[in-house]
Amino acid sequence: MSIPHGIRTLGVLGAGQMGLGIAFVSALRAKVPVLLHDRSADQVKKGLSLMDKLLDKDVGKGRITADDAKDARGRVTVVPDLKGMRDVDMVVEAVSEHLPLKQSIFSSFAAELRPDAILASNTSSISITKIAAAAVPGGMSAASDAGKASAGRVVGLHFFNPVPVMKLVELISALQTTPETLDRARAFAVACGKEVTTSKDVPGFVSNALLMPFINEAIMCLEKGTATREDIDTTLKLGMNHPMGPLQLADFIGLDTCLAIQQTLYEGTRDSKYRPSILLERMVDAQWYGRKNGKGFYEYS
Ligand code: CAA
Repeated sequence: MSIPHGIRTLGVLGAGQMGLGIAFVSALRAKVPVLLHDRSADQVKKGLSLMDKLLDKDVGKGRITADDAKDARGRVTVVPDLKGMRDVDMVVEAVSEHLPLKQSIFSSFAAELRPDAILASNTSSISITKIAAAAVPGGMSAASDAGKASAGRVVGLHFFNPVPVMKLVELISALQTTPETLDRARAFAVACGKEVTTSKDVPGFVSNALLMPFINEAIMCLEKGTATREDIDTTLKLGMNHPMGPLQLADFIGLDTCLAIQQTLYEGTRDSKYRPSILLERMVDAQWYGRKNGKGFYEYS
């Protein structure tokens, strides 16, 4: 018997490429009203305009009707702050890969949102257990029943970019996550049209523990002069049927994000096989973040 997710309203925090994509599939596929917040009004504007374009494209391709598009767009409301999300049944955090930022957000979730709301993080690599610990309100013991209940509603719900296209969601249970939270989060991802895999709460989970060393090896190949950027990417695209070469993929994910994930893997495992390449570090020092700001291993206009 399938478990209902019971989400009548969803909050999405962050309107970047991931948050926007999550809002999109939730409104269109799961048909759930979405309250979207980002501290940057410009980011919200860009995100909503991308959503309009994606909906128009789906209508143009005959995948959905104009009414479906209008209904989906009508389900997304921008709210000015977390207080605007007070009554959501679940929130998905999709901000940058920075533990202190996520801890502060989950502490605010615990203070501002309903005590039974599911608190999900779209983190690509950070410990869900550490994030869950931040959702125990100040002054409350993490080992008390109330403390366990508060942290028990935290879960990792890891979507992939571009969210409307990629079929997977990786589900991660913190040490504290309750089976009910896990089941409802899984049911919600399925309602968004995704297939779900589960991973233990280890640095990078399954996806990035495998993907990031691969990307890092490609960067080291370039650093050592083994081949040109084009030859590295073409080898993997044509030789292994990857949709993008590893350097193109790194630019697509964002070099700052790749470095943040690699640092989490390296620090979390203390295993030298995860040490980020110096070239990647220098490119991020230069603020070359990839596609999102026009310069990475390639140039974008
Ligand atoms: N948002 C929404 N849709 C997008 C999109 C975006 N940013 N970019 C492309 N698409 C859509 C296109 O509109 C097109 O849709 P239609 O079929 O409706 O026309 C479809 O994707 C295919 O696009 P294109 O024909 O333009 O180009 P393509 O065939 O080269 O596909 C791609 C583009 C889907 C991005 C493909 O190159 C791909 O799958 N690349 C690998 C992506 C990947 O590995 N993502 C995971 C990254 S890791 C991650 O996200 C998590 C992490 O933790 C780091």
